[in-house]
Amino acid sequence: MKEKAIIKHAKMQLTELDLTSRYENSLSFHEMAKILHISGLDRNLNATIPEILTKRINENGCYTIRKENELVGCIFMHKHEMGRITVYERVTLWVAEPYRKNGFGFLLMAKISAHYVECYTISISKNNQVCANNELLGMKHLSLDEIPEFVLDTLRTLGKLRGADYKYYVNHKLYVWLQKLKELE
Ligand SMILES: CC(C)(COP(=O)(O)OP(=O)(O)OC[C@H]1O[C@@H](n2cnc3c(N)ncnc32)[C@H](O)[C@@H]1OP(=O)(O)O)[C@@H](O)C(=O)NCCC(=O)NCCS
Repeated sequence: MKEKAIIKHAKMQLTELDLTSRYENSLSFHEMAKILHISGLDRNLNATIPEILTKRINENGCYTIRKENELVGCIFMHKHEMGRITVYERVTLWVAEPYRKNGFGFLLMAKISAHYVECYTISISKNNQVCANNELLGMKHLSLDEIPEFVLDTLRTLGKLRGADYKYYVNHKLYVWLQKLKELE
């Protein structure tokens, strides 16, 4: 219920502030440069490189928030091959400072999660707001000992096995798959 109230408020704020939000499969060179700059500046975001970002946008799409044509918010999905399955990780959530605290961060997270609802998805974050939002979205928090050994190995190889301050959230579909694997260990 709280989730619906935040989304309703965020949508009203979009209209109020004359913003638009949509799913996109390509961004301009200028916008890509902006995202690369932001992800390099903020220690909560993972720095990425142009080739990976281009592939990510073209293949996985993204949700944006725009003021007229200017990009003021975004969220992306990064694709990982994990054993026999493909896992999508939500990455590079960003809302421009003047537009924060309107629920837009949550709206972007909710929209991309809904878009990928049929897929295995994961969110790895130490940002308290993002973790609280993951709970609101019904994602399941997993401690490291609940994650099967070979998945941990994959995360380690991908550089995704981070410090103790990071939390791992998975959607229902990935949770069920991990539980089954854990039972087989
Ligand atoms: C993290 C980030 C995307 C959040 O964006 P945002 O649009 O401000 O997010 P939300 O509005 O959904 O939530 C932020 C806060 O506003 C509050 N809020 C949202 N709607 C509200 C409302 N209608 N009334 C009052 N408060 C509200 C939320 O509860 C939350 O509160 P808190 O900070 O006290 O916990 C933004 O701060 C950012 O871009 N940070 C830099 C990059 C970054 O850290 N990304 C995350 C990487 S994991």
